[in-house]
Amino acid sequence: MTYFQVKTLLAVPFVAALLTAAFSMLALMGRENPAGAKRLRMTHRVSGYTVAALVAVLASMGFSHLAAVGDALSLRGVLHWTYGSLLIFLVLLKIGVTRPYRRFLKLAPGLGMTITVLGLLVVTLSAVYFILAGAPRGDLIEEFGVRPGSVSASLATEAPRVGIPGDAAAGAVVFETNCAGCHAADSEEPVVGPGLKGLFDRERLPVSGRLVTRESVHDQIVSPVGTMPSFEGILSDREVDDVIAYLETL
Ligand code: HEC
Repeated sequence: MTYFQVKTLLAVPFVAALLTAAFSMLALMGRENPAGAKRLRMTHRVSGYTVAALVAVLASMGFSHLAAVGDALSLRGVLHWTYGSLLIFLVLLKIGVTRPYRRFLKLAPGLGMTITVLGLLVVTLSAVYFILAGAPRGDLIEEFGVRPGSVSASLATEAPRVGIPGDAAAGAVVFETNCAGCHAADSEEPVVGPGLKGLFDRERLPVSGRLVTRESVHDQIVSPVGTMPSFEGILSDREVDDVIAYLETL
């Protein structure tokens, strides 16, 4: 199961517990002599602790994502984190202050409503985005197109270029990080894979014998022949274009 699917699955009980906690409290406070007050109070307590537990799990997933993407966090990610960390803080405050210090109990309804609104906001923000943009596939690394501290992390945030088939200078960096361990750029001698010097001056690819075109090299990168690992989901489309532009200069 992917990171995205786990978070989506957890969001469902999270919203359910959040609404249960809010409505049980509204029912308790809104009526003169609520029937089943004891049960409502119990419902509020159980759903409240469920919210807190799910916030803890979701926050720890959020932290590992944050550690993976570092500075490349998207604007949506920043908003998600801002609301999310506020939510963590308010949940701690509600449990940590209003329970042991009963005098602050009058703050509890306000805190509770703020927590409900923030919680729904955090979930809606992501839900709307993923409905519009489509769900990401793959694991954490594939999903965000970055590896911890890699160059692609900083490239991934730049605006897409239109109509330009790749930037050789950026491609040189992509090559150094992703290909140079197995391929020489300055010779035809094999390292792990064949040397790629003068690749686009050759008629055919060295191993498969396919014609050398941008398409065939693109295919090799995303669904390679032989033992070379695939870079599908690891390199963005743009990074693949860039590295091909760089190979053309060799
Ligand atoms: C882990 C080692 C490894 C990495 C990393 C790697 N390759 Fe390869 N590559 C290979 C091997 C091995 C082959 C030859 C396939 C075989 O013989 O099984 C190959 C073959 C190729 C070929 C020739 C394919 C053909 O049809 O003849 C190209 C072009 C190529 N790699 C480009 C790249 C590019 C661009 C990158 C970086 C994005 C890259 N490779 C990263 C190991 C690697």
